[in-house]
Amino acid sequence: MNYSNLDKTVAYKRLMEKAAAGKEFDFKGMLTAERVKQCEVPLAEGLVFNWAAKAVDEKTLDALQALADEQELIAKYRALLEGETMNTGEGRKVLHQLLRSPDGKAATGKTVNHAGRDLGEFYHNEFKRFSAFAEKVRSGEIGPAPGKRFSAFAQIGIGGSDLGPRALYIALENWAAGEGRKALRTEFISNVDPDDASKIAASLPLDETLFVLVSKSGITLETLTNELFVKNKLKKAGLDPAKHMVAVTSETSPLAGNPTYMDSFYFDDFIGGRYSSSSAVGGVILSLAYGSDVFGDFLAGAAAADKAALTNDIRKNAALLDALIGVWERNFLGYPYTAILPYSQALSRFPAHLQQLDMESNGKRVNRDGKSIAYSTGPVVFGEPGTNGQHSFYQLLHQGTDVVPLQFIGFRESQRKDDGVIEGSTSQAKLKANLAAQITAFADGKSDSDGNKNFPGGRPSSLIHGERLTPRTLGALLAHYENKVMFQGFVWNVNSFDQEGVQLGKVLAKKILTKTEAGSGDKVLDAYGELLGV
Ligand code: F6P
Repeated sequence: MNYSNLDKTVAYKRLMEKAAAGKEFDFKGMLTAERVKQCEVPLAEGLVFNWAAKAVDEKTLDALQALADEQELIAKYRALLEGETMNTGEGRKVLHQLLRSPDGKAATGKTVNHAGRDLGEFYHNEFKRFSAFAEKVRSGEIGPAPGKRFSAFAQIGIGGSDLGPRALYIALENWAAGEGRKALRTEFISNVDPDDASKIAASLPLDETLFVLVSKSGITLETLTNELFVKNKLKKAGLDPAKHMVAVTSETSPLAGNPTYMDSFYFDDFIGGRYSSSSAVGGVILSLAYGSDVFGDFLAGAAAADKAALTNDIRKNAALLDALIGVWERNFLGYPYTAILPYSQALSRFPAHLQQLDMESNGKRVNRDGKSIAYSTGPVVFGEPGTNGQHSFYQLLHQGTDVVPLQFIGFRESQRKDDGVIEGSTSQAKLKANLAAQITAFADGKSDSDGNKNFPGGRPSSLIHGERLTPRTLGALLAHYENKVMFQGFVWNVNSFDQEGVQLGKVLAKKILTKTEAGSGDKVLDAYGELLGV
């Protein structure tokens, strides 16, 4: 396989020339009603990626296809699926897609083995174990005490052990209500700020709460602190913590094999934290909250998107096309940001999850061999659901000095079924009208002789649209972004699967917490510590 830096490719030169020549590129004139209808690629599960309002023409697509071919993006994806060591920094395989494989094999059909073990089988067995456990809890067969049932759950974890599962849980709350499904109260404790754990613990019926402790490494300061915080609360309430907590961790973590948890569910080092929503990290809490069939549907949706991402043709592969348009905007048009704007309250925490997914994966300045690179990599990602964001930061998006590429997401139907007509239209219709209006306004702008009221337009956006946000479409959406980030990492020749950049702060925090009378040995650190009273 060929692993080249982006700026060493032939396609890079061609795209650079194209970007330079396209200064007068009439993006505004290009967006027509026909284009809106034509620029569509099926993603999976009825979701469609629409790129009509992107500054991309057929020639750009040809050049991006050449880049995809030259960087062997699909061959690399296949190699990753089949267990090649793609996390070069940590010397690990990258197997989150295998977690959702329907037959325990890679999407290419191959079995993935490591040290004599069939990993698809291992992941599937854990899925079966936590599904059975969740069903027993939901039916009351497993409870905190004889004759008592668990009525609430709380996940303790941070980063990938919080953001994805939390975003997915919130995404399905209204869907479950709309379907009339039994959903049990579920909370998340992540921050080491004591006010987070304290507020949530105080609001829960502790004698009926099952805590799900999640840490891949089993050494994360915040999570271990919150575990003890909660255990102390349980003890103070006269309860046995061992009857109120299960663990989700990697097999190699210090938490593994600890008999003081009610049960433990495992994944392994081949599942990155931010990619772990499809494992027990997301599976235990979502199965407890909504039922194991819901999590199964979520995995099926994700598997469908993984399969669709195997297509070589960028015009037919939504994740690949989304990734390459992102590279076009980042490296050739020079836009350093991207905004995720779901017109769906259910996806209110999805941008926060994508921040970690994208920025922890591709926020890299060395290539997969640890050598410096001379081009831009992952963009800054931020976002809020619409229409809320419109009343917040859209001013800058419309009229600010930076062009921010936008990624809209919208659904024809709402999740709950009690929407009604108010002043001539439903709330869902108002939501969708705003979405259509924003895409058009960003692309076309509006000229006005008063500069203050002038909208320059030419601000590119894409739209992922579908019928309704369900467990299956949610799975497809998550996998789409995971695969998009992976393809971009391949283009940039970075390792998207480690996160060394988070280590230094952790080391310094520990240093100051364990300082002696003489200080921590770092004067600046001590000065800040003094300001804050550490
Ligand atoms: O500090 C970053 C990080 O390592 C993330 O990559 C990870 O998702 C998070 O911490 C939590 O890690 P763990 O699941 O091991 O507690």
